[in-house]
Amino acid sequence: MIKIKNLTKTFGTQNSLDNISLELNKEDRVIIMGQNGAGKTTLIRSILGQYIPTSGDIEVSGFNPFKNRVDTISKIGFVPQLPPPIKLTVEELINFAVKSSNIDKDEIVELCSKMDLDIKSHFRKIFFKLSGGMKQKLLIAIAIAKRPEIFIFDEPTANLDPKGRESFYEIIKEYSKNRLTIFISHRIEEVSNMVNRKIELDLGKVVLDEKI
Ligand SMILES: Nc1ncnc2c1ncn2[C@@H]1O[C@H](COP(=O)(O)OP(=O)(O)OP(=O)(O)O)[C@@H](O)[C@H]1O
Ligand SMILES: [Mg+2]
Repeated sequence: MIKIKNLTKTFGTQNSLDNISLELNKEDRVIIMGQNGAGKTTLIRSILGQYIPTSGDIEVSGFNPFKNRVDTISKIGFVPQLPPPIKLTVEELINFAVKSSNIDKDEIVELCSKMDLDIKSHFRKIFFKLSGGMKQKLLIAIAIAKRPEIFIFDEPTANLDPKGRESFYEIIKEYSKNRLTIFISHRIEEVSNMVNRKIELDLGKVVLDEKI
């Protein structure tokens, strides 16, 4: 599903990704770990087509992410490490997602409520005025309702309360069947019963890649 070959990404003189090669398949439930600054988010941004590789190749479901960004994004349900400062109201954002990705609005509402968020009562609020955890829950619900081929979650539970975390993993367990699922997390104990592969980055290099 994702093929990465000799990927290097340089900012200035620094190699944020240093000659990475990886193949990620439909059956993989992956945790990507590594210290702050190891290159995890840079790797994800490269997969999403937000960064052009300095050298090397990436293929996502047959697409070159940088050249076919729209097609690539259509295959991926992504929750970023930091929610973007979206200036739409909650309902406008949901309507936009429903229209652009052919998602069921009721399913978004239902998924939010499974995470204890009554999103309908916040429909008129500007998205960026929601609390950190609420934003994360809504973005998670939208990503899941999209039913994509690939899930990518960059520190998805960082802002969630304990119950929210528990519900998130329960939902993901159900929806990640037959979907390549990638978690970026510093807390392996949280995802250990969800994942079957562990990849560790250090200074932009893959230093560990094992089945678990
Ligand atoms: N747009 C950018 N411009 C310049 N340098 C960047 C850019 N994006 C990332 N970097 C650099 O690349 C390195 C890796 O950053 P990255 O965000 O990928 O780390 P990370 O593994 O996600 O860390 P964290 O655990 O803190 O989220 C850092 O040294 C960072 O400063
Ligand atoms: Mg990061």
